Amino acid sequence: MDIRGLSSDAVWDHENAFYWFSPPSRIAKQLAHWELYKRIVGLPGHVVELGVYKAASLIRWCTFREMLENAHARKVIGFDAFGAFPVAGDARPEDVDFVKRFEAAGATACRGTKWRRSSPPSVSTTWTLRPAT
Ligand SMILES: C[S@@+](CC[C@H](N)C(=O)[O-])C[C@H]1O[C@@H](n2cnc3c(N)ncnc32)[C@H](O)[C@@H]1O
Repeated sequence: MDIRGLSSDAVWDHENAFYWFSPPSRIAKQLAHWELYKRIVGLPGHVVELGVYKAASLIRWCTFREMLENAHARKVIGFDAFGAFPVAGDARPEDVDFVKRFEAAGATACRGTKWRRSSPPSVSTTWTLRPAT
């Protein structure tokens, strides 16, 4: 399976690259999300992410849901423009600069992309992420 230039055949290379090239803040973000998710286990409600971009953290929420609860425990809902980063007409210059740097570093988000991830064999569920229409 290929998604946006990444191949599932090269998953271990992608993992190695993440650890080789990521600053500690990337792991810190994962640990912070893990700690946050642990605090909602057993509580009612859903997870809503405002700003999905390429779905890294959205997939992480779904993964943590499976690890700490189960695939059906709650919904994980993502909102995004799924295109160019929206910039309000009265945005401050520093915000416009941020968006320019953000898009230069990572290109635009997944407009029209349908994400699909099959669970590992040990887990019987499959989930599909797709932008709202
Ligand atoms: C920093 S990225 C999100 C990163 C993601 N949460 C992660 O950790 O992998 C911010 C996202 O929010 C989206 N966004 C920002 N303002 C928005 C708005 N007003 N309406 C819809 N999407 C917006 C951008 O297009 C971008 O994809």
